[in-house]
Amino acid sequence: MARITMGAERFGTEAREAEYRGLETGDILFFPQSPPLVSEADRAFLVTQKQVDASYHKNVSYRPREDRLKGVDQDDPAQRERVHQIMRDYSRKTIAFMSTLLNKYATTWKIDYASFRPIEEEGRQVALHSRNDLLHFDSFPTRPSHGDRLLRIFTNIHPDRSRVWVTTDAFEALAGQFADRIGLHRRPGPLEACKNLTVRAASKLGLPVVDRPPYDRFMLKIHHAMKEDAGFQQSCRKDRWEFPAGSSWIVFTDGTSHACLSGQYMLEQTFIVRRGSLAFPDRAPIAVLERLAGCPLARSA
Ligand SMILES: [Fe+2]
Repeated sequence: MARITMGAERFGTEAREAEYRGLETGDILFFPQSPPLVSEADRAFLVTQKQVDASYHKNVSYRPREDRLKGVDQDDPAQRERVHQIMRDYSRKTIAFMSTLLNKYATTWKIDYASFRPIEEEGRQVALHSRNDLLHFDSFPTRPSHGDRLLRIFTNIHPDRSRVWVTTDAFEALAGQFADRIGLHRRPGPLEACKNLTVRAASKLGLPVVDRPPYDRFMLKIHHAMKEDAGFQQSCRKDRWEFPAGSSWIVFTDGTSHACLSGQYMLEQTFIVRRGSLAFPDRAPIAVLERLAGCPLARSA
């Protein structure tokens, strides 16, 4: 895995084939000087916002399609509206920027949520599976991707501190290591098959359950298995990356293993990239898992 550094001269240009390939196979596209996604006045306002350090308040989230803000610990309506406006602007600017840079994806991608993460990552006390400081691949527990990919752009808006990540090998190299543990080679037993059918039927009836296709079940199992494996976390090969204040970076977080060791005040926008729009679809996590399993793992969304 590598960090591909891109200068300000690349604002408004499309990624080259080698950059698409790098991104889709685990590299990070890194802008040491962020494109202009948030104004200095808005950045200065956001870093004065205090959040309660509880898991349900760790992020402020913004849903672009509904223009809806959630998770703000702000009682003052004017202040709340300002946060809403800043998140709306950040979301719109990142969508415009990414539509040019990663134009191959933009006609079919689904715009997901944006978030503001105001809590210091170092030393946070959260449940094991929620820990950001353990290496993992992202998998959304409540929103199955059906084999489409999770693409994220991050912007460090801290006034002076870097955000620090470590990464290890990319998905293609690690999937085989966890395949047996997550049951990729075994057919579901009668009990598990029955449970899956029941969940599917309940979901169709509109009950509040998450009906995951096999791909999303395996991705969530890999996410959990990696975080539960203390030996792996300690002994695996690691690369350390610093993302300085004022930088932005772009990652497929379902295929780039990552852990965030420290950092505070970050903005982020997520995109769900369609499997069919990828430049190298045979390198996607679903293609890797399907090769290992020897069968299709997605249902159409
Ligand atoms: Fe993550």
